[in-house]
Amino acid sequence: MKLLVVYYSLYGHVHRMAEAVAEGARSVPGVEVDIRRVPETLSREALVKMGAIESQAAQSHVPVCTIDELGRADAIMFGTPTRFGNMCGQMRQFLDATGRLWVQGALVGKLAGVFTSSATQHGGQESTILTTHVTLLHHGMVIAGLPYAWDGQSRVDQITGGSPYGASTIAGGKGERWPSENELAGARWQGAYLARLARKLAA
Ligand SMILES: Cc1cc2nc3c(=O)[nH]c(=O)nc-3n(C[C@H](O)[C@H](O)[C@H](O)COP(=O)(O)O)c2cc1C
Repeated sequence: MKLLVVYYSLYGHVHRMAEAVAEGARSVPGVEVDIRRVPETLSREALVKMGAIESQAAQSHVPVCTIDELGRADAIMFGTPTRFGNMCGQMRQFLDATGRLWVQGALVGKLAGVFTSSATQHGGQESTILTTHVTLLHHGMVIAGLPYAWDGQSRVDQITGGSPYGASTIAGGKGERWPSENELAGARWQGAYLARLARKLAA
């Protein structure tokens, strides 16, 4: 049983969430988990201007995902930061290169989940996840969110990400806020959930 966590992260927040998703998935026996990042589309000059060189270097150990790896996975968790309430361009470009998989029906019946990060609390986390679902549904993937069975979902004693659609974190306007323990718990929960569902589906 192979679960792939594929993400893009400019400043590291989605990367941190991806690690938590993978940790959750690995807690399910018999599930092999790989983390991959999608190819960068920004020039080095743009990355310098955006102050992202250090955070990119910190992710350089994560292999870049190939399209074929998607086809080999039984379940895939997609992580993307919000860009105007949608997935980022890097993830869009990667998914737009999956036409061959679509023609082959290679992802039909496979499980998928989405997690995200936004700068502000109401900056489009839910729309990012839901609009990403649309692409995955065109591939015939079976979507799993983050149900209220995860008890961190209902917390109102602190500012927190997380919705029934998927795990999320709030990065702050300058990226100064890092995933809270509750948000990481949501990411772990969703990773474990998808892994358990994938096992059941295979059985
Ligand atoms: C072009 C662009 C558009 C963005 N749009 C939004 C947005 O609509 N809402 C929001 O809250 N944050 C927005 N952000 C902030 C990012 O979502 C934030 O930097 C990201 O979640 C941090 O995750 P990362 O560290 O994994 O890159 C935007 C950032 C950029 C560069």
